[in-house]
Amino acid sequence: MATRASPPPGQAVASTASDAATASVPPAPEEPRAEPSRIAEMLDAIAEIGTDPTAGVSRLAFTAAERQAHELVSGWLRELGLTVRQDAIGNTIAERPGTVPGAKAIGVGSHLDSVPHGGRFDGIVGVVGAVEMVRLLSVTRRQLQHTLRVVLFAGEEGARFGEPCIGSKAVVGAFAGRDLGRILDAQGVSLASALQDVGLDPVRISAARWDPREWAAFLELHVEQARLLESEGRQVGLVDVVSGSTRLRLTLHGRADHSGGTPMDVRADALVAAADVVVAAEGLATDPRHRGTRATVGRLDVYPNSITTIPGRVTLTVDVRDVDSDRQRAAAAEITQIAAHICQRRGVRLEAEVIADTSPAVLPMWLREITSAVCRELGIDARPITSGAGHDAQVVNQLVPAGMIFVPSREGLSHVPEEWTSASDIARGVEVLYHSVLRLDGFLTEMSAEIGSADS
Ligand code: GLV
Ligand code: MN
Ligand code: MN
Repeated sequence: MATRASPPPGQAVASTASDAATASVPPAPEEPRAEPSRIAEMLDAIAEIGTDPTAGVSRLAFTAAERQAHELVSGWLRELGLTVRQDAIGNTIAERPGTVPGAKAIGVGSHLDSVPHGGRFDGIVGVVGAVEMVRLLSVTRRQLQHTLRVVLFAGEEGARFGEPCIGSKAVVGAFAGRDLGRILDAQGVSLASALQDVGLDPVRISAARWDPREWAAFLELHVEQARLLESEGRQVGLVDVVSGSTRLRLTLHGRADHSGGTPMDVRADALVAAADVVVAAEGLATDPRHRGTRATVGRLDVYPNSITTIPGRVTLTVDVRDVDSDRQRAAAAEITQIAAHICQRRGVRLEAEVIADTSPAVLPMWLREITSAVCRELGIDARPITSGAGHDAQVVNQLVPAGMIFVPSREGLSHVPEEWTSASDIARGVEVLYHSVLRLDGFLTEMSAEIGSADS
């Protein structure tokens, strides 16, 4: 149970030596600095919720642990004076009003759920980064002209239901007409009943939809989850494109039988056919025609999973990722076809289903120009970067222009307990986020004044 006291968001903590290293050109003396020690404290407090006794953090989408993390961070945001609400899909939205009535909102945030046996940084960095950013605004009593909304998305990881970014997909209206009773986890629990289990009403989720007229932009701070920044010694990545994903569930129906009594030439072994499919998926993604595609079989459920029985049924998932939507979907279709041939050859029946399909996103250049100008001013070594992972910002971008700021991942590791980013690297990312929001606030005000004068 994470009963640990909230880190007091308003209270100053002495700077550490690593603070000094967060920027080669320090910001103006009146600008506050993000505090690595406070960031580390918040990361620790969140990681306590869902710590897995076997390894890492298991705080899956739409579980009590995920809800508890939302409550903890909601408390911090309330202490900072924000008005906090939960929307119909379980996203937490905290608001700090701007000075200009009717001005659109600038959103910041990320997600609080994790994969099974995952790390403590994926998603969480963008959440604690947003909290720290609000604290910097608060200690300087800075008023933005635009409303600031901190959004803690629910159910970003596709690990539980196959469907990723459930919270952000709800805000863009992507579930309209879909039956949430048919989106299932590995235990057969539907998304509809998982929502009910945590007190949400699946029938009402359309109420979570955002009105794009209320929003100006959204910025997400996140760990890179790859090793480019570290290998180049860069401090920050500014995302240009986010990969999409197509997810397949393949069920191979063979014939279970006695492992001793059944001759090799009369078997219909579902696991042997599945093994061929796993290798074929890897082969396809490494073929030069699919340059850039990644294909992963991450789950394999074998029935009856017994030493002395030939596997009669195997269900496996294939996660196909690409920055090119045509290539992504063509690769998924091709893997399904290859699986069908394999199964035919082995006397196994194939059932194939696309369980989730998310398009890649090209993020708007004008937002990257803002984050890039901020990095230049702060003396931060930043580069454009392409995300191999999926993100809420890529979905939000369907409705509201979105940008992403990456901080380095040690050895590129992610979705594993060893996931690590130093608090000083995160603090640097928070400062980029903070100054980007300030710059965006001014830029959007100027733009609306220009549009206003052009109209008059
Ligand atoms: C989210 O981290 C994903 O699976 O891309
Ligand atoms: Mn993430
Ligand atoms: Mn993730």
